[in-house]
Amino acid sequence: MDTKSLPVPVRRVFQVLALTLTAVFLSSCSQRTAPAPSPAKPVANAVPWWKHALIYEVYPRSFQDTNGDGIGDINGIIQRLDYLQSMRVNAVWLTPIYPSPLVDFGYDISNYEAIDPIYGSMADFDRLMTAAKAHHIRVIMDMVMNHTSDQSPWFQESRSSRTNPKRDWYIWRDGKGPGVPPNNWQSVFGHSAWTYDATTKQWYYHKFYAQQPDLNWRNPEVQKAMFDACRFWLDKGVAGFRLDAIPELFEDPQFRDEKVLPGKNVFGDPNLDSSLTENLPEVHDVMRQLRKVVDSYPGNRVLIGETYLPNIQQQLLWYGAHNDELQLPMDMQVGFLNKLDAGKFRAKINQAETELNGNMPLFVFDNHDNARSWDRYGDGKHNAAIARIIATMLLTTRSTAMMYYGQEIGMVTTPPKTKAQVQDPVGKTGWPKNKGRDGERTPMQWDSGKDAGFSTAAKTWLPIPPSYKTVNVQVESGQTDSLLHWYNQLIQMRKNDPALHDGQNIMVNTSDPNVLSYLRKNPGQGPSVLVAMNFTNKSQTVSYSLQAQGIQGNSATALLEDGGMASNIDLGHVVLPPFAIFIGQVQ
Ligand code: GLC
Repeated sequence: MDTKSLPVPVRRVFQVLALTLTAVFLSSCSQRTAPAPSPAKPVANAVPWWKHALIYEVYPRSFQDTNGDGIGDINGIIQRLDYLQSMRVNAVWLTPIYPSPLVDFGYDISNYEAIDPIYGSMADFDRLMTAAKAHHIRVIMDMVMNHTSDQSPWFQESRSSRTNPKRDWYIWRDGKGPGVPPNNWQSVFGHSAWTYDATTKQWYYHKFYAQQPDLNWRNPEVQKAMFDACRFWLDKGVAGFRLDAIPELFEDPQFRDEKVLPGKNVFGDPNLDSSLTENLPEVHDVMRQLRKVVDSYPGNRVLIGETYLPNIQQQLLWYGAHNDELQLPMDMQVGFLNKLDAGKFRAKINQAETELNGNMPLFVFDNHDNARSWDRYGDGKHNAAIARIIATMLLTTRSTAMMYYGQEIGMVTTPPKTKAQVQDPVGKTGWPKNKGRDGERTPMQWDSGKDAGFSTAAKTWLPIPPSYKTVNVQVESGQTDSLLHWYNQLIQMRKNDPALHDGQNIMVNTSDPNVLSYLRKNPGQGPSVLVAMNFTNKSQTVSYSLQAQGIQGNSATALLEDGGMASNIDLGHVVLPPFAIFIGQVQ
């Protein structure tokens, strides 16, 4: 595996096809895409942009530093728009850049309608909006509605006295006795979710850090304040929001103890079932109201949810009974399976295809909260080949695709070596079992020069991983066998090929435990696309019979392959070398 370059014939096939398909795509585009809706009359049935989009998560602290302080900034994002456009990214999601004490690196917001000076100014943000538009890239903001910073003026007022008008904006309770919190609820970041406040002698609830007090969503003033913040950014033209920690918005109004499950978590606390602090049904009313807010703006603004959910039934709920909640609740079930298991991926991808009432799934394999997929799926020996399989699943299934910076070049999780180096507070609480999230937030590796092209600082906020000399954008741009090149080919194909763009996703050879195979059925008359991936380090032989899917021919012509396969294969006898990938046209 890890071929040094794509076999020449296949590359040629791909290039010719790319040209032809660009033409096909452009003509189909003009049929499919309705004119931009006018502000007064949004066009209800236009195919919204987000349905086939590639959304790229930027962690601004780590993307590009332009002022030499070792921390990324808005001007850095502007500087790298050419790169994002070259990858055909449709939208960037920016993790929070609002003023914040930065305890949770921006997820503790103290002012929802401003920019933290560490990232730049509002004028810089406005320039980013203009520049992104010129690059045909939309900007999605992160909206943290579950909690604020404890330094927010709202919380400062709330904690000042029991009679303050904002007291009820947060969740205050008496303890069960001296030094005993109101109940057994726990913070996601370890230990009790309640902190005692000596001034008013009550406890406040925080699902995350103590510096992130939860807002009380049962108070209508909270909803109004938060929706006003959303309007502020919608008025600036943002394309929508990624809604942080949205299943955590409501808690049990009776504040009962959560059920204790067997065992302990990484913080040494008992495991709880989370049933009284997550996924309470009240959240769906708020989502419907928020959807009305975004829908009152032109241009198909989108709501994306940070929705870690246990099953597809729960996933479906977030679209809303009448498709009136989130357009894109993230599907974390596929990307975070964390085991390269063909059967499991088949089942999960198929559920997303068939059990979401035709809604578009949003697949995600990487983000700023989890070890990179490179390490979660890699076996230590074949990580490069496995990363191509991950990329292929992300970009050849019927889904909106979300990527995280550095995923496309194969950045490696680089956790801190000592507790003293840890930046993310959870890494200090959880050390050494949980080293926090610094490892997946290291600076973007742009080139082999100083600070990997990220900064000119003597010290960057997180260290540059040692891999940067060879794993970087500049080096990989010049290599036809690089992961970056693989991503770019997949992205181009997915945009240009009608079957990959829009076709139904039909699982085939469904009892094969080693090879994941699916057919993307052309929605028109043209060829469909067969995708086959060998998930093992042994050669696998498979045979396809696709008549039931309307495919009469018995051969497939490669659009793209990895692992040394021929450009034309006999469907009755396909040999897939270890970790090989074949993407080919059938009809
Ligand atoms: C989300 C964010 C994470 C943050 C948490 C609390 O999970 O992705 O980074 O720490 O919410 O806001």
